[in-house]
Amino acid sequence: MNIILIGFMGSGKSSVARKLAQKLNYKNQETDESVLIRSGRKSITELFKLDGEIVFREMELTIAKKMSGEKNAVISTGGGMVINKLCIDYFKQNGIVVYLQTSFEEIVKRLAGDETRPLFKDKLVAHTLFKFRKHLYEEYADITIKTDKLSVDEITNSVIEKI
Ligand code: S3P
Repeated sequence: MNIILIGFMGSGKSSVARKLAQKLNYKNQETDESVLIRSGRKSITELFKLDGEIVFREMELTIAKKMSGEKNAVISTGGGMVINKLCIDYFKQNGIVVYLQTSFEEIVKRLAGDETRPLFKDKLVAHTLFKFRKHLYEEYADITIKTDKLSVDEITNSVIEKI
């Protein structure tokens, strides 16, 4: 089985995935990293700018399909992975989905000054995405962890306890 982390931008998926993989002796995979390699672009910002979001989402689906065939991997997904149910269907064939639930206020604090996320540039747009996606994360989660008051270590331990 794989462990798939879902949640909004800034919810701590990458840091928790790294720690979790270390503790469980699993592989650590990042969908964004694989999409980027596949695209040949330098950054997600460049990919959005030059190819557009639709191309990015198509690549996410390809990567989700491929990664879902992994064994014993902790997979950190991009925050928008849930907008395509097919991606989640692939992951669920062979994995348990963990939702890192973080409030929008906390995310705004954590991402202050961040320049790497094209969909977090405009706070109003980001908040609309957050409200829309919240229900999707909830629907697809096998396990939910509230992360606002927890450190990366605490979240990691909590995932291990619950799986
Ligand atoms: C996105 C989240 C990003 C990245 C891209 C789009 C989104 O990943 O995939 O910028 O649509 O929420 P993180 O959740 O790791 O920031």
